[in-house]
Amino acid sequence: MITQTANAEGIVGLIEDIFALHGADSYLGEEVTMAEHMLQAAHLAEQQGESESVILAALLHDVGHYANALPPEVLMNGQDNRHQVSGADWLARFFPAEIVEPVRQHVAAKRYLVAVEPSYRACLSQASLDSLALQGGAMTEEEAQAFAQLPQLEAVIKVRRLDDAAKVAGMQTPDFAHYKPMLQRWVLAAG
Ligand SMILES: [Fe+2]
Repeated sequence: MITQTANAEGIVGLIEDIFALHGADSYLGEEVTMAEHMLQAAHLAEQQGESESVILAALLHDVGHYANALPPEVLMNGQDNRHQVSGADWLARFFPAEIVEPVRQHVAAKRYLVAVEPSYRACLSQASLDSLALQGGAMTEEEAQAFAQLPQLEAVIKVRRLDDAAKVAGMQTPDFAHYKPMLQRWVLAAG
């Protein structure tokens, strides 16, 4: 569980602790652990030449599972723990909107893409499809139109697709330490 007392100097160390302490947790019925999933998302972003803010949003997108009073398993028990909101609210104290908003919107982005892209549903894992229903299902046309106006839409969609792709058992990635200098730069940039 993330404490609410972290300060800017301690935040990177605290995130590192989360990866170390909770990284081996299973990821909601997927074949990768939570840490593997988030490291894969960041690694794929880096391989695709994405910006640092997209790489870091991918790295942090599920951290809210540990900023929430409800454990991640709750999502599998038919209850939505709204980890995207708790994660984004917590990260917003230390990081700018380019990183925070893709985290906040990564669940909504799934609901959006299911609504506007007919082929998207086929690339979702079974666990992702199961949670989609709990998260509200496909957006209505009205919801999708409003979502498309988000200032960070492009980054939001990128992080969602990275999330979907980062579920490969056995993929080799750099470890958390690789991202520490980048994280530190963005904490400082956020002031
Ligand atoms: Fe994820």
